[in-house]
Amino acid sequence: MAEMTDAEVKDLVRENYAQVAQGATACCSSDCCSEPNKLYDVEEIKDLPAEAVMASAGCGNPTAIGELASGETVVDFGSGGGIDCFIAAKAVGPEGKVIGVDMTEDMVNLARTNAAKLGLSNVEFHLTEMEHTPIADGSVDVIISNCVINLAPDKGEVFREAFRILKPGGRAYISDMLLVKDLPEEAKADRKNWVMCLSGAERKDVYLGRMRDAGFVDTQVLEDKPWDGPESWASDVHSMNIRAYKPV
Ligand SMILES: C[S@@+](CC[C@H](N)C(=O)[O-])C[C@H]1O[C@@H](n2cnc3c(N)ncnc32)[C@H](O)[C@@H]1O
Repeated sequence: MAEMTDAEVKDLVRENYAQVAQGATACCSSDCCSEPNKLYDVEEIKDLPAEAVMASAGCGNPTAIGELASGETVVDFGSGGGIDCFIAAKAVGPEGKVIGVDMTEDMVNLARTNAAKLGLSNVEFHLTEMEHTPIADGSVDVIISNCVINLAPDKGEVFREAFRILKPGGRAYISDMLLVKDLPEEAKADRKNWVMCLSGAERKDVYLGRMRDAGFVDTQVLEDKPWDGPESWASDVHSMNIRAYKPV
């Protein structure tokens, strides 16, 4: 199969997640997606709208590794139906602010509807690519992202944008799919593996190197769990929770 262009990858991802927003089963790995009970404590999600929980398509729980403080500004890269934004909104309280960005219109609409159901005034959602947000330089305390950056064809661009909008001393808490060994070429080329968060997954050393190149320091993998898919190469794909800082 011919390699897809970056634009084709993004169109494919948008198409898939528009369907997830409309109620299709989310798919990225068997450890996540439509099994939010595996990722979140019951207490964290019990008051959220069912539509926000159903659309959950993460591979970790970035707010659980992030020590969010009252009054902080948080940006969620690839916010989907908004689940992590709603958890973050509770943690930062009315003095804080949470901004979810997502490039899929149906997801942004779903997240806005969910926010309205919750009556939240400290959360907003923007239809934009995370590589090019309208957010001001140095204006954000924390970036979170859950199973999204693997879907970006140019991950360096994502990390540079995250670094740009963070304040000095700001933190990034990222849950994502990474590789401990390269995938077989035929697995990478399979279109369905792109939307399953597999084809775009990068080796851990490359991914962390891109974060450091963007300027992040103290980059650390806090949790690392192999994927349990049926393929022979499944254990080479891991869901990892990463923390990094913008220097003061
Ligand atoms: C696997 S889902 C995860 C959604 C959410 N983080 C969660 O945990 O439920 C991926 C989401 O990232 C969004 N996305 C993918 N690439 C993106 C990009 N370059 N910019 C903004 N959003 C993106 C998709 O539209 C989709 O909503």
